[in-house]
Amino acid sequence: MSILSEKKILLGVTGSVAAYKAVALASKLTQAGARVTAVLTPAAEKFVSALSFQSVTGERAYREEDLWGEDAHILHVKLGREADAMLVAPCTANTLAALAQGRAETLLSLAALTLDAPLLLAPAMDAGMYEHPAVQENLRVLVSRGAILLGPAEGHLASGLHGKGRMLEPEDILGHLRHILGRESGALRGRKIVVTAGGTQEPLDPVRVLTNRSSGKQGYALAQAALDAGAETVLISAPTCLSAPVGAKLLRVQTVEEMLRAVLDESAGADALIMAAAGADFRPKNAAPEKMKKRDGIPHLELEAAPDILKAVAARKAERGCPRVVVGFAAETREVLRNAAEKLASKRLDFIAANDVSTAESGFGSDTNRITLLFADGERESLPLMKKFEAAEIIVSRVAAFLEKRPSCESS
Ligand code: CTP
Repeated sequence: MSILSEKKILLGVTGSVAAYKAVALASKLTQAGARVTAVLTPAAEKFVSALSFQSVTGERAYREEDLWGEDAHILHVKLGREADAMLVAPCTANTLAALAQGRAETLLSLAALTLDAPLLLAPAMDAGMYEHPAVQENLRVLVSRGAILLGPAEGHLASGLHGKGRMLEPEDILGHLRHILGRESGALRGRKIVVTAGGTQEPLDPVRVLTNRSSGKQGYALAQAALDAGAETVLISAPTCLSAPVGAKLLRVQTVEEMLRAVLDESAGADALIMAAAGADFRPKNAAPEKMKKRDGIPHLELEAAPDILKAVAARKAERGCPRVVVGFAAETREVLRNAAEKLASKRLDFIAANDVSTAESGFGSDTNRITLLFADGERESLPLMKKFEAAEIIVSRVAAFLEKRPSCESS
């Protein structure tokens, strides 16, 4: 179940040209499981209609005239009190001023006064307005009262000018919201989780590398699931084409040696390590300092063993007790469970996720996975084919269950 499932999000939309992006945001929130109620100011309606929001959310969207409608005397209270979070996106300078001063002149600002949940603001304004002292003063007041500021980004503005004032993109706003809700209620609040992802690259020469087919999708999904559960999340990533989830501390590495160093550094005080990365097992013994040329003939590649990161972590854990929980992956093409059980024991893991990467639906690069979890106490849990994110949520919830029984590393 996603962190946004059944969460009631009050989406305030104000009069900026970025209001068109709020429709995409409402759609993404709905697809992530949230129940989204949009409230439009009169100025917002100059750009977009309530019908657009109703169409993508399946929920009633409110206009200013609804304030004076049949359920007028309770509408703003209902909207504010029922919300798990209120998000004003785009938030204009005018609405910022109204919110900062507690003015109750629109349905949106009235609802904000009855809010008993986090208030997130995604400002959008043009031509230096964002930097204006009056706007900055209003922002300071709002932030001091607990409002959470998302953006704005710097870049091209509708006027043609360049500057700070662009509303954050819907995916980024969604990421911030997940992060904030996770920190409020997630099972891993106060815990630090390190996740690795992607296939390491071992240089043959300055332009060529030895790598593997790992896409990083399962690791990135695990980092998102850890964030949703409220964990301080470190994502140590070999090169991938993916964007890191909002809120994760992203450490980019290339080689298995770099990954080893980052994992040992970050997992020293971490509660759990989830090693989803496909680290190299072998690497070129001597990378050529200059590009190898065809005219010099076919090169003879001598390989050497690469360090086994999980074995190094197991040695550290035996000595110092951290990370409390260590999870590995076994990507296999034959004898999947037998090989996974051997790795579970030899790497001294708490559990391992075994998957058969020889099939298209659970192989590298796919969006789905079929895994079996093998636990150190001999328990097994076979999961059906599911999205990598769903598998990630299950793995993270098993980590949380382990940690419930173990004190935080910080307290040891
Ligand atoms: N792993 C690691 N260090 C490496 C390679 C892999 O810590 N140099 C981790 C992976 O992140 C994974 C687990 O070990 O969690 C198993 O990886 P896998 O490649 O399946 O197994 P190997 O130990 O490399 O063994 P083999 O290549 O024989 O299957």
